[in-house]
Amino acid sequence: MSPGAHEAAAAVGGAREGARLLFGARSGMRSHLQSWRPFICPIDDVLRWVSNDATVFDIGCGAGLLPGLLVLRGHQVSITGVDASPSAIALAREMAECLDGKPSLSFRVTATTAEWPAGPFDIVMMVDVLHHIPPAVQQSFVSDALARVAPGGRFVYKDMARRPLLHAAANRLHDLVIAREWIHYVDPAVVTSLATAAGLRPRHVSHHRQWWYAHDLLVFDRPVRTHETP
Ligand SMILES: C[S@@+](CC[C@H](N)C(=O)[O-])C[C@H]1O[C@@H](n2cnc3c(N)ncnc32)[C@H](O)[C@@H]1O
Repeated sequence: MSPGAHEAAAAVGGAREGARLLFGARSGMRSHLQSWRPFICPIDDVLRWVSNDATVFDIGCGAGLLPGLLVLRGHQVSITGVDASPSAIALAREMAECLDGKPSLSFRVTATTAEWPAGPFDIVMMVDVLHHIPPAVQQSFVSDALARVAPGGRFVYKDMARRPLLHAAANRLHDLVIAREWIHYVDPAVVTSLATAAGLRPRHVSHHRQWWYAHDLLVFDRPVRTHETP
């Protein structure tokens, strides 16, 4: 597949068209779920915070849907994705191999944050991952991500919302069926306090609803260092 050839189509259709181009022709349930994901997740709203010339670290990248969409949009710098699931990373690599133009995409399996690349990165993304992390380590998981945001860089966080309760319950049921997991929602205020404690500034907050799924999108910027202390 050529990002050049499909870029215009993907841009017109946004994430829905892009996901179909990346995964629509592949067999298997995981591929099928990728091509439908933009119908339940505000992916275009997330990706608009990622510029074309940024180095990107995608934490919990799954099958590489977001990195693949960035390439289709003409993203030109390197994107690194990590995920705890070997089968998700295998599909991400398979997807990346089908992209022409040798995009700088790399995917690795990581079981702990200690295995993450040190960075720093211009953009650190964490999309629909934190509710899968055990509560005892959720805060350190976020702090380890924040530590990888470069000066002048950005943390783009999206997760399922705890309110309205009916939407939260619907998503809980989704994860029980799809991931066979009892998820643990995190209050966005906790993420905001971790980000500010790590020296980042809130840039954007929005709430989105698609079908019966509710989402919180939070964006934080790390100021560029302008003064060196003696
Ligand atoms: C709902 S998927 C989101 C995938 C991707 N971010 C997206 O938006 O398409 C959540 C992903 O988080 C991954 N995950 C869960 N725990 C993780 C951990 N400790 N480290 C890295 N990835 C993890 C899962 O394997 C899964 O692929």
